[in-house]
Amino acid sequence: MDMLNIALPKGRLGEKAYAMLKNSGYPCPALEDPGRRLIFENPEKNVRYFWVKPSDVAIYVERGAADLGIVGKDILLEYAPDVYELLDLNMGKCRMAVAGKKDFREPVGKTLKVATKFPNIAQRYYSGKCRDIDIIHLNGSIELAPILGLSHVIVDIVETGVTLRENDLMVYEEIVPISARLIANVAAYQFKEQSINRICGSLREQMEGKS
Ligand code: PRP
Repeated sequence: MDMLNIALPKGRLGEKAYAMLKNSGYPCPALEDPGRRLIFENPEKNVRYFWVKPSDVAIYVERGAADLGIVGKDILLEYAPDVYELLDLNMGKCRMAVAGKKDFREPVGKTLKVATKFPNIAQRYYSGKCRDIDIIHLNGSIELAPILGLSHVIVDIVETGVTLRENDLMVYEEIVPISARLIANVAAYQFKEQSINRICGSLREQMEGKS
């Protein structure tokens, strides 16, 4: 049987994702004591896991370096990769939202300055409202932008809301709910259909509390 290559997002989401895979019958003991290695195999279960940056998971899967991957819906909405979305894993739940300072007022007759790591999501959202915006594309610590006057608002992920609260910011509009998804490479889904469906079925059963 062919080995399934699975890209896991490094960090909190990846740990939860691995726990789900383990509980679904696809453990990999080597991964539980990782050190700085990035690739881990369980030949008995025919799986090979590797850790990648969360925003890169879809690239590995789209280009076939991974057969499967676990990725936030935010990344799928932002990059629209050509992959199959197989399953909503119902974890890693958060929301994409517009946030700003508590005293924020919409600047009338002016272009709205929006800081974000998600320029496509932000652009689509404001195009839908026929609102002209100037996107300021940042790579992290987005919350600083309205505080320092770099932008009027931010479009960002809100999970617990703690980052906003601790920086005196608040949510103004909800854009879309986000959760983790299992994705598959298009060609791999044909060639490794059985193994992919088996792992997908096991994850689904586990989510439904049957295993
Ligand atoms: C994300 C997001 C917010 C924070 C929200 O940042 O961009 O800053 O998490 O989480 P909370 O609502 O639970 O506080 P991330 O941790 O990815 O770091 P970054 O600033 O480097 O993007």
